[in-house]
Amino acid sequence: MRQPLVAGNWKMNGSTASARALLADIKAGVAAVAKCEVAVCPPFIYLPLAQAELTNTAIAWGAQNLSTEAVGAFTGEISAAMLLDCGCSYVIVGHSERRTLYGEDDQRVATKFAVALAAGLKPILCVGETLEEREQGITEAVIARQLDAVIAAQGASALAAGVIAYEPVWAIGTGKTATPEQAQQVHAFIRGRVAAQDASVAEGLRILYGGSMKPGNAAELMAQPDIDGGLIGGAALVASDFLGICRAAHDSV
Ligand code: 13P
Repeated sequence: MRQPLVAGNWKMNGSTASARALLADIKAGVAAVAKCEVAVCPPFIYLPLAQAELTNTAIAWGAQNLSTEAVGAFTGEISAAMLLDCGCSYVIVGHSERRTLYGEDDQRVATKFAVALAAGLKPILCVGETLEEREQGITEAVIARQLDAVIAAQGASALAAGVIAYEPVWAIGTGKTATPEQAQQVHAFIRGRVAAQDASVAEGLRILYGGSMKPGNAAELMAQPDIDGGLIGGAALVASDFLGICRAAHDSV
């Protein structure tokens, strides 16, 4: 049985005051969703605040990105060791916004995955197709390419320490969610592709759905056999919405 994980990706939002308030509200609600693992990924500069507020609670925290480099003259970058220093357990790698806006290709994402793992962080590897790719009928080919880059570099066994998030690009921040059937189809494809390499890793692998997940659509998504939680953007900025999604994950167990 895979414990569901709901992780909030705050993206570039908030302030010290709003981050503190949001963390306090999530903390107050987490006991009611105990069957779901809960994590938040605030902007880098609020990680020390997350560490101060969340240490010794049931809530984990992580970063939205990391450097491939360990130390030195890399202006503006943040290393894996720095994330550990802030108590992070998770780090998102290969988010579609990193891929499309900041030119991170499959190779770079695979390197980030490797660097995170080597440091003892749990990488959340994002994969997903654009609308154009879906309409061309190449969704599975795109996902396979993104996944295989990590498997080729690290071996399928490396996925045991990580998490995969399927985030169709056309569903991110658009209010357009994949149907449970569409999402399940891709999640099953991902699990099958990993199973072809290592069946036991595939069985234990948590595959999250991300893309306009809300309290109102979370339950039907979480009810799918290969959907093990969510990576939440917009709804992660409103405590009641985020906790509502966690509640759906809790109830799905
Ligand atoms: P939304 O939930 O805002 O669609 O964002 C999803 C996402 O990109 C999470 O990483």
